[in-house]
Amino acid sequence: MKSLLPKLAALLAAGSLPGRAGDKVDFNYDIRPIISAKCFQCHGPDEKARKAKLRLDLREEALKEHEDGRTIVPGDLKASALIARITSTDPDEVMPPPKEDHALSAPEIELLKKWIAQGAEYKPHWSFQKPERPAVVKIADLPLPIANWNGVDGYGDWSVNPIDGFILQKLAAAKLMPSREAEPEALIRRLTLDLTGLPPTMPEAGDFVKRWRADSSIANRQSAMGNVVDRLLAICRTTNSPSSNWPETFCQSRLASNWSRPLSTATR
Ligand code: HEC
Repeated sequence: MKSLLPKLAALLAAGSLPGRAGDKVDFNYDIRPIISAKCFQCHGPDEKARKAKLRLDLREEALKEHEDGRTIVPGDLKASALIARITSTDPDEVMPPPKEDHALSAPEIELLKKWIAQGAEYKPHWSFQKPERPAVVKIADLPLPIANWNGVDGYGDWSVNPIDGFILQKLAAAKLMPSREAEPEALIRRLTLDLTGLPPTMPEAGDFVKRWRADSSIANRQSAMGNVVDRLLAICRTTNSPSSNWPETFCQSRLASNWSRPLSTATR
C-alpha cells in the first residue's frame, strides 16, 4: 500500500486525465462505457461468449482469483492482472486481443488505472439507481481558469440558475470558456424553429427583441422568453391531432428539454 501512494498522488495530480479531472472516477460515467464496448463481448453477462471464465460486469467476479491471479485488486495496480493485460506489449497477452481491432486508447487505460487505484467501485446501472439530489455547485468554489468572460464581470454573473453551476464545473474542468450569450434575434429564431419547424414572423421577432432589450435585467429577459414559450406551447396544443397526442408530447418535451431554462445555458 505504501508504494502505491506516490503513484496515486501522481495520478490525481495529472491534470490531463480525461473524465472529471481531479475528481473521483465514476463507474457509470467513466468506466462502464469502456468495458462494455471493449471487454463485455468476451467478459460480460453472456455466458456462452465468455472467455477465461472471467466476467468484468460483476465486481465480486472481477475481484476473484483467475488464472493470471486476481483480476482486480482494489487500490493495487501492480497486483491487478487486468492492468498487466491492458498495458502488455505482448500481442498474445494484451487485452482486448489485437485481432478484435478495438484496442484501448491511452486515456482509457489511464481511466481504468485511476479507477482501480481509487478502489474499483462498481455501481448499478444508473437507470436502477434512486435519483439523489446532488449538492449545488458553488461557483465561488470552482477552480476557474478564467476570471472574466466576454463582457461579464466574473462567473458569478454567468449563473442565473443552480444548474449553471454544474455546467460551469464541467467547463472549468475542461478549461473551456462559456460562450457569449446569444443575441435575442438568434434566440427567438432558434426557439421557434426548434418547435414549429418554421422561423418566427417578423412581428414576432420584432416584438420579442424589443421586450428583451427594454431592460437588461435578468427578470425582464426571463419574462420576455417566458412569453414566447407560452405562445409556442399554445401552438403545441392546437396542433395536437385528435387521434393521438404525440405531437403535443413531442413538442412539450422539446420545450422542456431545450428551453426550460430560458436564460441559462440554453441561451448561450
Ligand atoms: C474477443 C474476446 C476478448 C475481448 C474483447 C477481451 N478479452 Fe480478455 N481474454 C480473452 C481470452 C480468449 C482470454 C484467455 C486467453 C488469455 O489468457 O489470453 C482472456 C483473458 C483475459 C484476462 C486473464 C484472465 C485470467 O485467466 O486470469 C484478463 C485480465 C482479461 N482478459 C481482461 C480483458 C479486458 C480488461 C478486456 C477489455 C479491455 C478484455 N479482456 C477484452 C478474450 C477477450
